[in-house]
Amino acid sequence: MTEKNNSLPIVNIDYWSDFAKELVNSSTLKLNGKILDVGTGGGACLIAAADYLGKNCQLIGIDKNENRIFQTKNKFKDMGVENVKFQIMDGNNLKFENESFDNILCGFIGFGGDYDFETNRFISRNTKMKEIFRILKIGGEAAFSTWAYQQDIEVARDLLQKYLIDKNLKKRDEIASLSISYSKETIKGFKVIMEDAGFSKIRIFLRDYQIIYKTIDEWWKVMETAAWVMRYALNHDHNKLNDLKNHSLPQGIESFRKGGVYIFQKSVIFAFGLK
Ligand SMILES: C[S@@+](CC[C@H](N)C(=O)[O-])C[C@H]1O[C@@H](n2cnc3c(N)ncnc32)[C@H](O)[C@@H]1O
Repeated sequence: MTEKNNSLPIVNIDYWSDFAKELVNSSTLKLNGKILDVGTGGGACLIAAADYLGKNCQLIGIDKNENRIFQTKNKFKDMGVENVKFQIMDGNNLKFENESFDNILCGFIGFGGDYDFETNRFISRNTKMKEIFRILKIGGEAAFSTWAYQQDIEVARDLLQKYLIDKNLKKRDEIASLSISYSKETIKGFKVIMEDAGFSKIRIFLRDYQIIYKTIDEWWKVMETAAWVMRYALNHDHNKLNDLKNHSLPQGIESFRKGGVYIFQKSVIFAFGLK
C-alpha cells in the first residue's frame, strides 16, 4: 500500500492483506498471546498477526466454509507457518470455552444479518458478536474490519441494473430492490452491536482507500467474484454475463479512468473493543 500526499491510500486487488495489516497495526495484540481469527477466509489477518507477533503466539483460524479452511491450511503449510491451527466452525456457535483468547480478529464477516444498518434495528439476537465477547479473556481485545462504501461494487450493480432493463430481463420495480453483494455497515450501528455484546472502551474509525484496477478485465474478474449477485441475477448464464461485460463496458467505467488505470473508492470501518 502506498500513500500520496493529501490523497487517499492506494490499494490494488490484493487489498485483503492491506486491510488486515491496518487491523493488526491498530489493535493491541498480546505478545505470546492466544489469538483467534473469526471468518479467516484466505487467512489475511492471520498472516498479518504472524508477521507482527512472530513464532511465540498461538494462532487459530476458524471459518464456516470447509473449502476455505482446507485451502488456507495448505497455504500456511506451504508458507512454513507452524504456530497456526484451523477449524471449520460457525461464528454463531464458537466451540471454545469462555475467556479462551487474548485477542480476536474478525475481518469482513458481515453483521448485516444481525443488525439492519439502514434502519438501526436488530434483526437477530446479535449472537456472533456475543459469542466473540464470551470467548475473549477479561482485558482482551476484539478487532473488527467491515465494509462501508464500495464504489466498485455499486458501479457493477448499476451496470447490471441497466443491462437487465435494456435487455427486458427485469422490470424497473423488480430491479429497484436488487440487493448488492455486501452489507454496507456504519460506525453508528457497529457501536450499537458491540455495546450490546458487552464491549467497553470501543474505538471505531473509517478509512477511505482508492483501489486501482489496471485494466477493465481485471475489474471485471474481481467483480465476478465480489459482486456475485450478477451471476444470480443472470441465472449463471455465461453468455449473458459476457454480453453484460461487452454491452456495458468499457463506457460504463470510463469515468473512473485516470492516468491509464481505473480508480474506485473503497471505505473500511475498523472497530476495537475490550472485555
Ligand atoms: C470476505 S471474507 C474475509 C476473510 C478475512 N477475514 C479477511 O479479512 O481477509 C469473509 C469470510 O468470513 C467467513 N464467514 C462469514 N460468516 C461466517 C460465520 N458466521 N462463521 C464463520 N465464518 C464466517 C466466510 O466464509 C469468508 O471466508
